Amino acid sequence: MTISGKAKLAGVMGWPVSHSRSPLLHNHWISIMGLEAVYVPLAVSPDNFETALKALPTLGFRGANVTVPHKEAAFHLCKRHDKAALRVRAVNTIVCLEDGTLEGRNTDVVGFSESLKLQAGLEGIEGATAVVLGAGGAARAVVAALVDLNCACIRICNRTVEKAQAIANSLHDEDVEIHALGWDERDDALDGATILVNTTTLGMVGQPALAIDLAPLPRGSIVADIVYTPLETPLLAAARELGLTAVGGLRMLIEQARPGFEAWFGEKPPVTRDLIEMLETDVKAKAG
Ligand code: ATR
Repeated sequence: MTISGKAKLAGVMGWPVSHSRSPLLHNHWISIMGLEAVYVPLAVSPDNFETALKALPTLGFRGANVTVPHKEAAFHLCKRHDKAALRVRAVNTIVCLEDGTLEGRNTDVVGFSESLKLQAGLEGIEGATAVVLGAGGAARAVVAALVDLNCACIRICNRTVEKAQAIANSLHDEDVEIHALGWDERDDALDGATILVNTTTLGMVGQPALAIDLAPLPRGSIVADIVYTPLETPLLAAARELGLTAVGGLRMLIEQARPGFEAWFGEKPPVTRDLIEMLETDVKAKAG
């Protein structure tokens, strides 16, 4: 790879950031598209986040992704926002505008909705009752996406029910019922549902599996996990065993990355079999 003085710059800010697959993903696109650009990991602690974020335009960065734990701080520090960021009150993509203003965008919403549409098809989503487990930042984006995809009813189950209620209140929409439920109600919440989405960390490498009985879900139901380490969580394996449609988290990672890449580097990046295989190989190698 040759990086000249004219290379366009972007990166990902996180703490820690070493686990992030975004540099692998974006630099693969840069390479296959023959662009003069580079995407770097930026390990920025919460104490330094404001200084680092505000320095992006000064350093000539086109923008950056923002990951755990900075997404909410980024929302408050950006001067401008897109509609999705205002709905979710979190920012995962920063675009440095020509006058140096930072625009905060949220592409997790479109990342999840694209991933779900591509892997499960729209027919099973419109008018459905969905259950979302968890009520953190990822859940806010998932609920917003399910509202956009015209689900009729969304039940949010969380250990801290107040957080589920806050999402229900802020994403309330006239055409969609959103209910907040406790964690212990998650099995009962599946009654009449045909979509289940896990947004908690349960099932991730090093975390306990998610305990839930999928038996009440009718055939054809969709079970999605935003976790992609491992690629096949115990939840997805159980869904597949029951003949349900299992939707893994890797495609969301790819789909949330595409709008940022296009905004910084001017071209929409393709999703190829090679790209997916490269990411899957990396996740498998590091999970083992
Ligand atoms: P993110 O921004 O990725 O959504 P987060 O804000 O830390 O991350 O949210 C993690 C979610 O997983 C939360 O809903 C959390 O529940 P609380 O809101 O009660 O903390 C949920 N979670 C994490 N560990 C859990 C566990 N052992 N059992 C149930 N829920 C859990």
